[in-house]
Amino acid sequence: MSTTYLIKNASVLGGDPADVLVRDGVVAEVGSLGSAEDLTPDPGSGGGAVEIDATGLVLLPGLVDLHTHLREPGREDAETVDTGTRAAALGGFTAVHAMANTDPVADTAGVVEQVWRLGREAGYCDVRPVGAVTVGLKGERLAEIGAMADSAAQVKVFSDDGHCVSDAALMRRALEYVKAFGGVVAQHAQEPRLTDGAQMNEGELSGLLGLHGWPAVAEEAIIARDVLLAAHTGSRLHVCHLSTAGSVEIVRWAKSKGFPVTAEVTPHHLLLTEDLIRGYDPVYKVNPPLRSAADVEAVRAGLADGTIDAVATDHAPHPVEAKDCEWAVAAMGMLGLETALSVVQQTMVETGLLDWAGVADRMSARPARIGGVAEHGRGLEAGAPAHLALVDPSASRVIEPGTLQSLSRNTPYAGMKLPGAVVATFLRGAPTVLDGRVVER
Ligand code: DOR
Ligand code: ZN
Ligand code: ZN
Repeated sequence: MSTTYLIKNASVLGGDPADVLVRDGVVAEVGSLGSAEDLTPDPGSGGGAVEIDATGLVLLPGLVDLHTHLREPGREDAETVDTGTRAAALGGFTAVHAMANTDPVADTAGVVEQVWRLGREAGYCDVRPVGAVTVGLKGERLAEIGAMADSAAQVKVFSDDGHCVSDAALMRRALEYVKAFGGVVAQHAQEPRLTDGAQMNEGELSGLLGLHGWPAVAEEAIIARDVLLAAHTGSRLHVCHLSTAGSVEIVRWAKSKGFPVTAEVTPHHLLLTEDLIRGYDPVYKVNPPLRSAADVEAVRAGLADGTIDAVATDHAPHPVEAKDCEWAVAAMGMLGLETALSVVQQTMVETGLLDWAGVADRMSARPARIGGVAEHGRGLEAGAPAHLALVDPSASRVIEPGTLQSLSRNTPYAGMKLPGAVVATFLRGAPTVLDGRVVER
């Protein structure tokens, strides 16, 4: 029999304080519930509940990440499903979508089922594998999309992330294919011919630093093409890690036309700008690249007005040797799971752009809907599965890479003071994090 928890006096979605009773995997009651001793004894559990004083804490639905690189199989030196989902739990996540650029690539039913099983075994967070769109991410022919959808992993999201599906005919066919079962194609929008050898955002600074530029148009041209293909096929497109003001404009236009399009932004594109690259530290090397302050302002505004549906981490662990080297040869990507909510608090909540209910919408409800994860992203009403994140918005911490749960250390926030802390995370009513620490399984 699972332990019953009484969360006392929590600010639910940032609103009025209430008590929340978590029993048998679900939110059993919400309201003014007295103390744990007053509760009707749970038949079978032998009585009382564990009481958690949540005065001053915000209760959110468990966060859902649409874009995580867990690296297993193949790069277990950078991350494993076990370490990555521990990091996710510490970040307040209860479900993550595991990207397909593993080794072997997740382009068959066998590999997606393997990742899904590893997630279940680890038990820290639900793992939803993303299937590759094309065999080996090569962009040449479609992967066995139907078999992955029909597998035990029930894949709904397909992406060649790390690579763009740049062939328009193949992208069209992929959209048509996933439409049959309500799936979605998540595009890493990067026109390859416009980004050959690109190292950072194209602009004045790339000229100054002598690094080959990555023009905004390389992202925007693919998004413009793909929203038109989504309209033409009537099938769902999701735009990964949108990063420029122009991309926000295109998605805003597509939505105004009623096209079936959604989009995500990463925490790092909400906070960091290309100016950080002046020191040539490869920790800031990422795909898409960090952009200008004007782009940061535009993606924040797009997230605030709902043009951008979701925050997704693009958590991209890399081993030390892939980052502790010259800029030109360093790997692209940065960690995100353990810091995402803090970055969103700083950039969106403390700026007045989103309230906590808005954060719940962009980091739980909408990503769950986009990924087709029915059990997650629900409201905090009685009867809902108890996927919860309890957050202390008044806390703050200096990020120390050595203390992260991730196997890798490539956080761009090292030494930075970020607001907020995840106090507890519940997956199906069982704590994966308590008192800010992972609960060992
Ligand atoms: O920075 C990135 N890292 N962007 C991607 O698209 C892929 C990812 C990775 O797998 O490291
Ligand atoms: Zn990508
Ligand atoms: Zn990615």
